[in-house]
Amino acid sequence: MAKKGGLMKWLDERLAISELWRVMMSEYYLPKNINFLWSFGVLTMLVFVILVVTGIILLMYYKPDSKLAFDSVNKTIMMDVSYGWVFRHTHAVGASIMFLVLFIHMARGIYYGSYKAPREVVWVTGFILFVLMSATAFTGYLLPWGQMSYWAAQTITTLFEKIPFIGPDLVIWIRGNYIVEDATLTRFFALHVTLLPALILVFTVIHMYAVRIVGSNNEDGIPMTKEEKKKNGIPFWPVFMSKEFFVMSVFLLFFFYLVFFNYGFAMDPINFQPANYLQTPPHIYPEWYFLAFYEVLRGFFFSETLGLIAFVASMFLPLFLPWLDRSPIVSGKHRPLFRIMFWIFIIDFVFLTILGKLPPTGLFAWLGFIGAIVYFIFFFSLPIISFIEKKQVASGGGQQ
Ligand code: HEM
Repeated sequence: MAKKGGLMKWLDERLAISELWRVMMSEYYLPKNINFLWSFGVLTMLVFVILVVTGIILLMYYKPDSKLAFDSVNKTIMMDVSYGWVFRHTHAVGASIMFLVLFIHMARGIYYGSYKAPREVVWVTGFILFVLMSATAFTGYLLPWGQMSYWAAQTITTLFEKIPFIGPDLVIWIRGNYIVEDATLTRFFALHVTLLPALILVFTVIHMYAVRIVGSNNEDGIPMTKEEKKKNGIPFWPVFMSKEFFVMSVFLLFFFYLVFFNYGFAMDPINFQPANYLQTPPHIYPEWYFLAFYEVLRGFFFSETLGLIAFVASMFLPLFLPWLDRSPIVSGKHRPLFRIMFWIFIIDFVFLTILGKLPPTGLFAWLGFIGAIVYFIFFFSLPIISFIEKKQVASGGGQQ
């Protein structure tokens, strides 16, 4: 860091800023064998900042009251406030793109085995961020008080009823009433704008700190000591960050193309009708990023309880990856069997997402069931693949 004086020196003596800068930025080295997929962590942070800034502006005009909410969004923000529509579109597209970026960030982690030791804490804190982000998106979706907002909240909260003993009471506690209504809106609003974003911020700091402690993985999954990285790696600041700025600029072009020319995918047309608790829409579905999990739930169409268990398992199984996959080989680049299962999993996830929006009848219902089973096969194949690879490594084959 350049020589400092005046205010910087004063702050440094009290807050050790240059020490923090050294550890987190200028003397944090990344391996050379990483590709552009390692930029998705920073892109996630960028989208989060966009969501917070646009969210604060929307908050100035939004009314968390079931009689006023719909008009405050669709009339005040969209028509009366200068550029209100830009902020609303940016926030809605931001929420959708957040999940696209998160899914790529997670898939990169899975493919290159970034969840394996010593990165378990990075993985677990990342997973907590995914759960928090899902809760934020779910609570936020109710706020415009449109037909799909209302019925998606009604359907998803009803799922909790199936939980033995506490289910029915829990649903009333979540909704604040027997059905989704004003009390639900105000509590979802409170969580969406305060607790959840604050927790996301806290866990992002812990996640980043954990990455700094154990260091980044690389394409080949080769463990590198701090000294090796210092000798052969690239410093985060300014070298890696300059690449990140380039990736961010390209990403922002794509992002604002969507905001201005293709925002429709992030806003369901049915949601432009005000919520009506007497009229169920012909077909209820969540936003695209929850469709795969929703389809796992519907896949077990012959048993509601089994469907609910499968739904919860499909969301939480990724958390256990570090313990399901015990192979000594880290990166998917050197694991042919794992690679096949990984790509089947990705195709299956896309397939489930597409099916999730179609009516769950006839052939679609059975395809949903097959898709759900394939989803679980990926996770439960990992201990078997690990066993085979352990034997290969022990016999001198395979690459570690
Ligand atoms: C708000 C959400 C998140 C933010 C802001 C975030 C941010 C980051 C950043 C900046 C990095 C370092 C750069 C990189 O390797 O891409 C990183 C690494 C990592 N993240 Fe996240 N992340 C988030 C969610 C997640 C989730 C949901 C998971 C997985 C469940 C996850 C797992 C990981 C892993 C395993 C690494 C280490 C990658 C490696 O060293 O190869 N993160 N994250």
